[in-house]
Amino acid sequence: MHEAALQLLKRTMDDQLARTEHPSDFPALPPIPAGRYTDPRFAALEKEGLWDRAWLLAGIASELPEPGSYRLFQHLDRSVILSRGKDDRIRAFHNTCRHRGSPLLLEEEGRASRFVCPYHSWSYALDGALKAVPSQHDFACFEKSDHGLAEVRCETYRGFIFINFDDAAGPLREFLGEFVALTEGYPLERMVVKDRFTVEMDCNWKIAYHNFLEIYHVNTVHPKTLAPHLDSRSFVIALYDGGHMRFGTRKKGGVSLFEKPPVQPDDIADVFLENTVALPTFPNTFFSLDPVGFNLQCFWPAGPNKSIMEVRQMGWATDDDADREYWGEMRKATEHILSEDLCLFSSIQQSLRNGALTSIVTGYQERALYWFEEEIDRQIGPDRVPRDLQVQPRLGSYSTPHSE
Ligand code: FES
Ligand SMILES: [Fe+2]
Repeated sequence: MHEAALQLLKRTMDDQLARTEHPSDFPALPPIPAGRYTDPRFAALEKEGLWDRAWLLAGIASELPEPGSYRLFQHLDRSVILSRGKDDRIRAFHNTCRHRGSPLLLEEEGRASRFVCPYHSWSYALDGALKAVPSQHDFACFEKSDHGLAEVRCETYRGFIFINFDDAAGPLREFLGEFVALTEGYPLERMVVKDRFTVEMDCNWKIAYHNFLEIYHVNTVHPKTLAPHLDSRSFVIALYDGGHMRFGTRKKGGVSLFEKPPVQPDDIADVFLENTVALPTFPNTFFSLDPVGFNLQCFWPAGPNKSIMEVRQMGWATDDDADREYWGEMRKATEHILSEDLCLFSSIQQSLRNGALTSIVTGYQERALYWFEEEIDRQIGPDRVPRDLQVQPRLGSYSTPHSE
């Protein structure tokens, strides 16, 4: 993190600890319409405005350790192959054969020297080129070079693999914006996936994501697990262009929520030792940079009323019994804490769906989730969002570096 960002974090934390009410210039936030979480019209706008256009975190480079390693990305009604080529480059392809559309790969992960279609055995090189067509003489005027795999935009930043379904999208680094400077001093590129799991949720993806955009709920929902470790009065939020955010919370006693793992880098910047620094990255990713490692959470829609939370437990490369035992315990602790949150989501969704609640209310401590909803409309194009589903932009003057 740069010096200016560190100073901002420290100064705003001191301000938060001293405050007794919301800042006098903080605007009243209008109610957010319930239809944004239930209406298929809004889900369709999100598909066009977000999922088909934004850079999406799809994988981790260390999950593809050698040439030929692959993993499938299977969200958003899509199946995409992420694979490492013979030239070590990571590429993404639609998992669909150019003959008649069979999936090429059926296993979620593995290793292949070629992708061979399970239907009629067309085979493709790791760079997507079509290499062999059985009985090719039966296809008139057929050029193999016209039938390579359809590639998906794919760029990697410090070991994090992003894909984008929009061929006209700008470069990943531009999209990441402040994320680049904020992660300095934290060795992202050395991280490995210790464990992974998914949770199916009976709620809109944004209802689940909102939960991670505030700590207003922590004292009520996590009194014995998270609350004793976080000084929630110190919670600070920086809102950045593009919908990204940086949160900071001072750790009580300056210690991590979780015990130290057997292996931990000794070159992590002090700011990450003393504070929990979380980086909600637009549109659907959340993680907190802790020296122990972190849960990398991605939230995916599965229809207006259903969603998937994908959790990767990220840690440091080593492989011994103590480390495995540590991450086994981490998984249990994580699932326990998440279960404290998750038990409420389906009932919230039910109230939004059945008309018991026509809008939701947000206060100063929840300004990040209002900013997130504003950004969704900006990405869709505010004029395209039906009037009854819009959020009114209010927080422009609250984005960083203007003020906080
Ligand atoms: S669909 Fe793949 S070879 Fe026929
Ligand atoms: Fe929570």
